[in-house]
Amino acid sequence: MRAAIHHRFGPPDVLSIEELPPPRPRPHEVLVRVEAAALNPKDVLIRKGRYRVLSGARFPMGSGFDLAGVVESVGSRVHDRRVGDRVFGMLDGFRGRTCAELVAIRADHCAPAPEGLSFVEAASLPLAASTALQALRDVARVGPGDRVLLHGASGGVGVHAIQIAKALGAHVTTTSGAHNLERCASLGADVTLTYDDPATPFAAGARYDAIVDVYGNRRFAWARRGLTARGTYVTTVPSRALFLDVARTAFTSPKARLVMVRSRARDLETIASMVRAGALRPVIDRVLPLESIAEAHAHLETRHARGKVVLTIHR
Ligand SMILES: NC(=O)c1ccc[n+]([C@@H]2O[C@H](COP(=O)([O-])OP(=O)(O)OC[C@H]3O[C@@H](n4cnc5c(N)ncnc54)[C@H](OP(=O)(O)O)[C@@H]3O)[C@@H](O)[C@H]2O)c1
Repeated sequence: MRAAIHHRFGPPDVLSIEELPPPRPRPHEVLVRVEAAALNPKDVLIRKGRYRVLSGARFPMGSGFDLAGVVESVGSRVHDRRVGDRVFGMLDGFRGRTCAELVAIRADHCAPAPEGLSFVEAASLPLAASTALQALRDVARVGPGDRVLLHGASGGVGVHAIQIAKALGAHVTTTSGAHNLERCASLGADVTLTYDDPATPFAAGARYDAIVDVYGNRRFAWARRGLTARGTYVTTVPSRALFLDVARTAFTSPKARLVMVRSRARDLETIASMVRAGALRPVIDRVLPLESIAEAHAHLETRHARGKVVLTIHR
């Protein structure tokens, strides 16, 4: 089978398409014929070797955690998936491999693909939408009437976070680049601001029940002045300072928290039901063939993707 791999850490051109033996699914896994795979900043960081401690340095190394495709075979202990099912899903861990024709994935890490979506659209959802869902619903516990600030809301995670925060009943303020203000409003944001001046979201005494630093470059010290007394700051990016803030706010409020996305079939089912209800729609920046994976990585690396970058796998 054809797969995108790299034999060393480095720039996008370390990626190449090579023939590999097909994976064999373990008893709790399904083998998926991948139609589309989405990329995330995590793929870029792994390729560069920034997550070496977590990914290890065993080569060749694959790329991609998100997939959509058709179940080709099921492991002996899988009873809720069948050959021919259209599924979407996401791998956990730090060894990506969905940019390939065949992928073995745990059955409880995928779910039926939302009806009415193409494989490209379905593949764009799992990691980014799960991150947004887990950050807002589980970590910040956003509910109806809450005021939510999403910082860096026009990228892969942010475009889902806007829609999911609205679906949870929140009033949503976003920050983005000036060219993406309209985009954020079209996804449901009530107030759209640019991110250039860190003080802008807190002008005129604005306060939020949840501040999600989607981009990951703002500290708790910045967020604290804009949080309500029982508010929560959630970041997507871990740091030493953050762990200190998390420990310091373990028994006090407002709180500092990190979201660490986990692959869960039931969250994918929630995401699919939001799509069905018209509350969540995929936002695709660009679609490229597997052979253009280096170009796709290079684009994501600019940190100005507008939504998701997706690869089509089969010619
Ligand atoms: N902890 C977890 O489980 C988890 C899960 C998923 C992602 N993440 C992390 O979350 C972050 C966001 O992921 P993503 O997929 O949304 O990334 P992405 O698609 O690469 O984000 C691109 C967006 O970032 C915005 N941006 C660029 N510079 C910015 C700045 N200085 N301030 C604020 N926003 C800025 C851009 O906005 P404009 O183009 O409008 O300027 C663009 O829309 C990444 O660091 C990723 O590694 C963590």
